[in-house]
This record gives sequence, C-alpha cells and structure tokens, in this order.
Amino acid sequence: MTQLPKPSFNDDPKSFAFPSAHKRWPTILKGAIDDVNQEIKENPDLKKSGEEIRGKIESFLQYLENDGELKPFTKEDIELNADLKYYNSSLEEMNKEKRVTWLTGRWLNTECFLYQILKLYFLQSSEKHWHQYDVFERLKNNTFHQSDTGVLELCKRYNILASQLAEKDIDLNSLGILFKEFIDISLWGNATDLSLLAGNVTLEEIKSAQGEENRKKNEKNIVVNDISDAWGVLSLGNLGKRVDIILDNAGFELFADLILVLFLLDSNIASEVHLHCKEIPWFVSDVMPKDFGLTLKMLSDQKFFPAIYSNKDDAKAITDLHDSISKYHNSGKIVVQSHKFWTLDHKFWSIPKFEDLYKELLKSDLIILKGDLNYRKLTGDLFWDPTTPFKVAIQDLANSKLPLLSLRTCKADVVVGLEKGLFEKLSEEYKAQGNELGSYWTTTGKWAVISFSDGRS
Ligand code: F6P
Ligand code: MG
Repeated sequence: MTQLPKPSFNDDPKSFAFPSAHKRWPTILKGAIDDVNQEIKENPDLKKSGEEIRGKIESFLQYLENDGELKPFTKEDIELNADLKYYNSSLEEMNKEKRVTWLTGRWLNTECFLYQILKLYFLQSSEKHWHQYDVFERLKNNTFHQSDTGVLELCKRYNILASQLAEKDIDLNSLGILFKEFIDISLWGNATDLSLLAGNVTLEEIKSAQGEENRKKNEKNIVVNDISDAWGVLSLGNLGKRVDIILDNAGFELFADLILVLFLLDSNIASEVHLHCKEIPWFVSDVMPKDFGLTLKMLSDQKFFPAIYSNKDDAKAITDLHDSISKYHNSGKIVVQSHKFWTLDHKFWSIPKFEDLYKELLKSDLIILKGDLNYRKLTGDLFWDPTTPFKVAIQDLANSKLPLLSLRTCKADVVVGLEKGLFEKLSEEYKAQGNELGSYWTTTGKWAVISFSDGRS
C-alpha cells in the first residue's frame, strides 16, 4: 500500500472535526441527558436507574470537554457488548501513534467510540427497560413529524412517475431516466437543504428541454456523478436484480429511500431489496431495524400526519404508498437486516475480513451506500487530494467484486474524484460568500457526490 494521506483530527482547526468535537458532541450529549430526564418524567419508576445513567453521561461530557484520554473497555464491558473488543484493538493501534484524547484524536474513530460508550451506559443498567432504549428515538420521530410537506410532495411525485411504469413495454432508456430521478430523490434526502429536490415533474417533462434545464440546475451541485456507470451495470442482462442499501438516517431520508425501493421493485429492476441498519443508536439519526416498523406505523397514523390525512386524495396517496411498502416487506421482497460491522470504527476497506457480511454483500448486484458517514468510512476519512479517483480512495474495495454506489451530500472534509481545479474554485466562491474557511464548502450538505466502483478494477 502506498503512503496514505493524513486523517481528519479533532484538534485541526481546518478540519470539520474541530467544531464537531468541540461543539456538536457536547450538544448531542446534552440532548441525551434531556431525553433521559423526559423518560424519567414519563415513567417515575425509572427515576433511580435513569438518574444513574444520566450521571454517567454528565461525567462523560465533562471528561470529554476536559480532553480526557480514551480508555480501553473493561472485561465487564465486553461481556455486555462483544463488539467492544474491536474498539480496544483499534485504540491500542492508535495509541502507538500518539495517546488518543477526545479533543485531539482521529475524528472518525473517536466519534464512533462516543456512540458505543453512550450505548454501554444503558446496557450497564440493572433496569431492563434501558437495555434496548434508543435515546434518540424521540428526536428522530419529532423531526419526521415535522416533515409532512416533504413527505406529501414525495408521495405525489412517486404517483406521477410510477404511473409511467404501469404503461406496458416501457423501454430501457425511459427506465434509466426514471432510475436517475429516483436516485436523486434518495440522494437529496440526505441533504440539509431539501430545496434541491426537484418539484413534481412527469417523465415527459424530465425529457423536455425545460426539465433538462431544471435537472442541470440541480446537477451543478452534484460535483461527481457516476450514475450512468451504475445504471450500466444494473441494466445489463436480465432485470430482477438484488439491490442492497446501507441506510443512513431515519425520518425523511429513510422515507426518500423507501420511495427509491418502491420504484426498484415496481419496475422490476430489482426483485429484492435488502436494507442494512445499525444495531445501536448511531450518529443520532441513523436507522435501526425497529425504525423501519416505526416509520410504517407513523405513515399510517392519521394523528401523526393530520394535515395529510385531512385531504381525501392526499390520504389515499400516503395510504397506497404505505400499503405497497408493507406488502413488499411481508412478502420478503424488502428485507431489513443489520450487522455489527456498521457500528464499528473500521474503514469499509476491511469489509472482506468480516466473512459473513462479505459473503452476504457479494450476492448483491448493486450496493448503495447512503450519506456522509458511509462515505467517510469508504474513503478512510483521509485528506486525499480532491482529484484522487474514487477507486483509489476506496483502496482494496475497488477490486473486491462489490459493486458500490455512494450517494452522499457532503458534510465532512473528505471529497475525491473532482475535476482538477474544482475544489479550489468552489472554495474561492464559498469564501467570497463571507465564510471564513473556503474549504468548508464540503461540510454544508449543499453539494453532493454520486460515486461508483464496479469492484472489478
Ligand atoms: O457533520 C457532523 C456529522 O456528525 C459528521 O460527523 C457525520 O459524518 C455526519 O454528521 C453524519 O451525516 P450522515 O447522517 O449523512 O452520515
Ligand atoms: Mg447519519
């Protein structure tokens, strides 16, 4: 392996790690404390056990803010959660380089440690109630509750575009255009700025000059776009393929992903779609298996989306969508699964070392990886030169036989596969808008990359 670039470190003021570790993490931990308080308020029986957990989070927050060292997990901790042994090995490795502290360590690894530590406090409780508790569930559900406008817009958009599928003999070219459109929906579902999702347009409009213009406007924010290559692989030979999605966030993003899933199944591009979730509460909003069921429940709950259900046509649109997803789930065409690997601090380069997961993923015709964290793990969260080809940045995965499609709105430092000069141009423009660090354009969620590797380099 050639010399790798340096990773993002929490004490590098030029890295987005810096504000993440110094500001965002304390806010997240304070949010967790508030949630435990709320749970105690709603269940007075949990007062004692809840206060114990709250105390541990408070001490941890203080320790982190004082830049304490990361400590290895104990034997007892590992008995509660066997995955933690991987974390100890990783810490041992990192300590060889320099003692790892919360505010100076590697961003990717320390951030993963944080969520595992938080989970451990709940597992350590003598009260069973907390063992499976998701400290971010309230936040996830409240945010989804506020997404009713976007949810309705996507329901309508699905109905318009999907009606094209009902037409017999839809040609492969049209299917390809629709595929790109639904990929866009899923991609921008990961954004902070959802205005980048195009409006309710038909296939004809997309094909028209005006549609083309609209697409181009949004496409200029997609700074790497390998979607045609991914479609080339997926549309080769018979349809009825297996697609896997390594999910990111619950709420609106998961809903946008489910719209993509419906399209893939309704069009018979895919005959089965596997959704990969996190086993523990992760990076606040990531999807756990139970969030899939909860999402279906919320979609069919008139009290959860009262505005949508108050209109007869809108109520039908959301109900139809809910029923289709449910039907595919019940018939095994949508499979919800999870694996410990997704909540380790490993780069994805080590997927082949986890034989069961690797074997499972090798069955897939296309593996879609959603979001920023998955991209950081694909590229090692390293400061690659931005013109480095994606296939170089993902190292051995490029010849792992895994066909990978990353859909990511940029919310961190790393970005690869850019045309020469583009990083600098966007940095200048971002700085000219009054931002102190021009290079932070990569952290705003307003730009995106669609990067593909067929796994056969
Ligand atoms: O930007 C802060 C952050 O927590 C990053 O650490 C992380 O990569 C990202 O947000 C999570 O984004 P996503 O949900 O798209 O993976
Ligand atoms: Mg996430």
